[in-house]
Amino acid sequence: MEDFIRKLPKVELHLHIEGSLEPELMFTLAERNNISLPYASVEEARNAYQFTDLQSFLDIYYQGANVLQTKQDFFDLTWAYLLRCQEDNVIHTEIFFDPQTHTQRGIPFATVVAGISDALEKAEKELGISSLLIMCFLRHLSEQDAFDTLEQAKPHLDKIVAVGLDSSELGHPPEKFSRVFSASRQLGLRCVAHAGEEGPPANIRSAIDDLHVERIDHGVKCASDRKLVDELARMKMPLTVCPLSNIKLCVFSSMEQHNFLYLLKKGVCVTINSDDPAFFGGYMTDNFLAVHKALNLTRPQLVQCTMNAIEACFLNQKNKKNLL
Ligand code: ADE
Ligand code: ZN
Repeated sequence: MEDFIRKLPKVELHLHIEGSLEPELMFTLAERNNISLPYASVEEARNAYQFTDLQSFLDIYYQGANVLQTKQDFFDLTWAYLLRCQEDNVIHTEIFFDPQTHTQRGIPFATVVAGISDALEKAEKELGISSLLIMCFLRHLSEQDAFDTLEQAKPHLDKIVAVGLDSSELGHPPEKFSRVFSASRQLGLRCVAHAGEEGPPANIRSAIDDLHVERIDHGVKCASDRKLVDELARMKMPLTVCPLSNIKLCVFSSMEQHNFLYLLKKGVCVTINSDDPAFFGGYMTDNFLAVHKALNLTRPQLVQCTMNAIEACFLNQKNKKNLL
């Protein structure tokens, strides 16, 4: 079964590129850019990756991103992730990046996009991995800051397929960004949002009704509202679930307690993803293996996860068919 999971073609729809920064590369980039780190060693960094909730993770995650300075840094970060995709038989990936994390530090938007998209193009040519790029607004920042970021994205819209919404969910509900999502849609961008990761089912409803998203990132908190679960299944709203992330951030006390199989059996379009693999202990195959081990998914159910991700991805119909 392990061999079956390793070889299973996978499609990743929820991956923060900054969350794929392994401590080894963080140290390399810190040295290259003359930046001091709060850790004495790679091991010390790894040991610090113990989280009690989303915010305790975000504080460490944003700090790690400080080592990313140049186009080459963003290229190296993205290329390292894509090599892991190749190992895990990820055939298509839709990558989030957080422009505000970088522009706030004075790194130009163009530098970030150029480094990431050069690596994505190289992976398409050399590894046969297709990809799309999603720009996330940081929800703990203001609506105006999101509008400013959308403005900066305008020269790069040929490289960006969608907007997303991430960072601290509690206290920053989706409706805070209704207007900037509407403006994004008018520019031809598609919409996704993190909702129901730590926050209530109401955030999932708001992401759908106010932001008009085509996918919910996480969404696992829907389960406390049975009517919502039925609605998600009926409207075929994909959830990009991140099992190892949910355990590391204490959304569930153990993988055995995870509701992934419940949602799958309810007919919700659930997918398996890695979120921030360098911080949560695993890439795509690790997430599939962890879910299978704890919840005993059958082979048809594991295949269904990939089929759901193909259905939910933002490729056009012709390119989706090419994945099959
Ligand atoms: N940014 C990176 N990972 C995140 C997560 N799991 N939730 C919200 N924002 C994030
Ligand atoms: Zn996420």
